[in-house]
Amino acid sequence: MSAVRRELTQTQWLEALGVDPFWIVDTPQPAQELALQPSIAVVEKTADWTSLDRNIRSCKNCTLSRSRKQAVPGSGDHQADWLLIGEAPGAEEDMAGLPFAGQSGKLLDAMLAALGLKRDKGVYLTNAVKCRPEDNRTPEAAEIDACNGFLSQQIEQIQPKVILALGRPAAYAVLGHEASIQSMRGTVHYRQLGDRKIPVVVSYHPAYLLREPAEKWKAWQDLLLARQSLEV
Ligand code: URA
Repeated sequence: MSAVRRELTQTQWLEALGVDPFWIVDTPQPAQELALQPSIAVVEKTADWTSLDRNIRSCKNCTLSRSRKQAVPGSGDHQADWLLIGEAPGAEEDMAGLPFAGQSGKLLDAMLAALGLKRDKGVYLTNAVKCRPEDNRTPEAAEIDACNGFLSQQIEQIQPKVILALGRPAAYAVLGHEASIQSMRGTVHYRQLGDRKIPVVVSYHPAYLLREPAEKWKAWQDLLLARQSLEV
């Protein structure tokens, strides 16, 4: 992050995000429990990050492994309160081996900064599938299912206080439920983890927000709902 970006005030961040600061006072809808379950995939269960990342990097559970340069397990704080889940690595992530390395990532960083968060502190970033689908197509449900065991292990190991699912594939990966973003937004869903229920908020993918900047204020509402559900 450049020195200039660090000096921005929160209001300036919100403006950069396309958010009128007055939206902050909008009250998010109350949380409702939907009791949704994720789909189950069979992957080797590991007890630590090194083996988990190694297993992801050597995975051949689906055909995406044939075209990838490298798998992208995820990055950030292993003790994060916030787990953000995107769709899949794109070309830049496939090259870098890191999630959200391109333009979507820049917007995501700005969104996190508006909340006083950083991608490597209190936040972990990963994707519904860990390998790049060719031509950046949307991953298929079968590919998400094949990768889902890895996501489940990441959730178990991080034990986040809130999960933000960015886009339909991410929502499907976490909740095992295919529906439009519009229908899933504005409600707190839950992901069961042992005897805990982790709040899950569904929002738009940053790539969509780059194409439709007028929708950014909705993403800001979603972030506020996620923060509110984390504080409950
Ligand atoms: N889009 C995603 O969904 N994930 C990334 O890591 C990058 C772009």
